[in-house]
Amino acid sequence: MTQYSNRMVLIHWLTLALLVAAWFLGEELAEATDESSATIAGYLVHGLVGGAVLLLTVVRLFFRSQDGTPPDLGQTPMDKLAKGVHHLLYTVLFLLPVSGIVTIMTSDAGKALLSGDASLLPKEDGYHGVFAHEMHEVMVNVLILLVLVHVLGALKHQFIMKDGLMERMLPKRK
Ligand code: HEM
Ligand code: HEM
Repeated sequence: MTQYSNRMVLIHWLTLALLVAAWFLGEELAEATDESSATIAGYLVHGLVGGAVLLLTVVRLFFRSQDGTPPDLGQTPMDKLAKGVHHLLYTVLFLLPVSGIVTIMTSDAGKALLSGDASLLPKEDGYHGVFAHEMHEVMVNVLILLVLVHVLGALKHQFIMKDGLMERMLPKRK
């Protein structure tokens, strides 16, 4: 095998698109909370898009165990760093949405969503002291940092090393 399976490729790029949407929706939600204007719909949309990332990550790890991965490129320190970043990315793809779910379960947002009463939703400083909310914010920043390193690595392979690594994460040609 020289490339990732088509279903692994599909989930890789779908996850990227969902993360961009979830990030944007999360920032909007946080802004609405600060202005005490958050809505139940805002929570549902952010939660569903973020929840889809969690679901896809679980499915992706299952496919990975079934389909395998292309062979390691090499054993240089950079190759090992790239592999370590992949493992950390999977960890964050799991912990980030889970911390979002726990944020809802351990704050007033949970009560608001269960009762459908938007007036109970957290207002400015409403997440003060909610540990999972702090973790959610930390995880967002860790994700951004990891994706930055990951994309810089991909760009280096594409434009400096010119070794065709990107082909491994693109759909197979017949
Ligand atoms: C992996 C996908 C996710 C990403 C990229 C993401 C991103 C974000 C971002 C950027 C914020 C704003 C943080 C801030 O500046 O305060 C946020 C807030 C939040 N997210 Fe997520 N999130 C994800 C998944 C989830 C899930 C699955 C849930 C729950 C089902 C969730 C629940 C929340 C809650 C409750 C807040 C707080 C909103 C507020 O401060 O008013 N998130 N998220
Ligand atoms: C423009 C953005 C991106 C580019 C150009 C890119 C490119 C690539 C490439 C070329 C590979 C294959 C590496 C190899 O064969 O060794 C790869 C693997 C991977 N990418 Fe990305 N990627 C991007 C965004 C993301 C994002 C946003 C995530 C997740 C947050 C992610 C997570 C992963 C993971 C976990 C692997 C390892 C796959 C495995 O071995 O199971 N990538 N990426």
